[in-house]
Amino acid sequence: MSSNLRIDGARLVSRLTALSMIGATPEGGCRRLALTDEDKQGRDWLVGQMQALGLEVKIDAIGNIVGILKGQQEGPAVIMGSHIDTVGTGGRFDGALGVIAGVEVLAALRDAGLTPKRDMAVIAFTNEEGARFHPDMLGSYVWAGGMSVAAAHAETDSEGVGLGAELRRIGYEGQEEPGFLKAHAYLEMHIEQGPVLESEGGGLGAVTGIQGICWLELTLKGRPSHAGTTPMAYRKDPGLAAARINIFANELTKTIPGQLANSGVIRVQPGNVNVVPETVVMSLDLRNPLDAPLAQAEAAVRAFCTELSERDDIQISIRDLARFPATPFTEELIASVEQSAAEFGLPIRRMISGAGHDAQMMSRLCPTAMVFIPSIGGLSHNPAEFSTDDDMVAGANVLLSAAWRVANA
Ligand code: GLV
Ligand code: MN
Ligand code: MN
Repeated sequence: MSSNLRIDGARLVSRLTALSMIGATPEGGCRRLALTDEDKQGRDWLVGQMQALGLEVKIDAIGNIVGILKGQQEGPAVIMGSHIDTVGTGGRFDGALGVIAGVEVLAALRDAGLTPKRDMAVIAFTNEEGARFHPDMLGSYVWAGGMSVAAAHAETDSEGVGLGAELRRIGYEGQEEPGFLKAHAYLEMHIEQGPVLESEGGGLGAVTGIQGICWLELTLKGRPSHAGTTPMAYRKDPGLAAARINIFANELTKTIPGQLANSGVIRVQPGNVNVVPETVVMSLDLRNPLDAPLAQAEAAVRAFCTELSERDDIQISIRDLARFPATPFTEELIASVEQSAAEFGLPIRRMISGAGHDAQMMSRLCPTAMVFIPSIGGLSHNPAEFSTDDDMVAGANVLLSAAWRVANA
């Protein structure tokens, strides 16, 4: 690497602070759900930053924002990226940091007057969180050819509002075809979002891959009835069934190694204190580093639902919201991330990612790797999410070094 090449740490922190003011919550976090007015404001701000840097800015048909720094030769680009949408109770760092670090990498090259051999780019992918529209990582999934633009536009949120309509409303249905910029390699920096790095005494993470994800939506239908007059034996209570399923999934995690499970959405209708409910719509998030045990967990949940449905006379239908296999990253690029950390004298350890990331989709297209920085208290998807300035700058320097190396190889 050009030995003096460094991220401008103060500028990285100030850009992140500026973005975190958009959709800021009183608890100190961020709420920029995909394709809402707050997301639009964040997008407008990002496009402004990219344009001010002199990047070529393009928007594709799914709203992915692409900032390109032209290299010396034609051909596939070294792409960095992440997302700027958040969950409803998000923090300031998840996704935003990866996008801003990518922008700062290109800014550092501009400052140094350096032009890479290959094109380089940073992408802010649409709806990574999956908190509003399903599946998660939707923008990068479409970019990688896993889902058509039409199918993605047809997705609706829990209020029935269409993704395509929202893209048009906020002015981010672009002209470019997703995937228009061919990828030579993809690198993403992200907060760890878990406790491992901090509990190991700090340092960075060279991510070896991402665990498998299965999101299910279960609709349970019973019979609404009077809470005071209906004897227990006469009830068909989907609220109780939802509780049983939740507990079953939790117990399952004790019998299948590596298995995680939780229900993050439970909507009860009609939602009156004195009515045995009619319907419950609930989600299940099942994850495992290995595909076979994940499939085993899903099969066990489905079998339990069939049994429950027959025993308690509750109708249960199950729909896939997201399903992505465990994804290993590319050895050569993981090693490159480690080499860059070593050049800066930074400790780094290999680890798998518990969270989904756009890198999981990009790895369908090209060699991919990620660098993690510690999350204080292991918290994420929480307003208290926090990473130190020093760790952010360290991670961004590693991103810069690794991206510069692969862009000139
Ligand atoms: C993305 O944030 C995920 O749910 O892993
Ligand atoms: Mn993220
Ligand atoms: Mn997230």
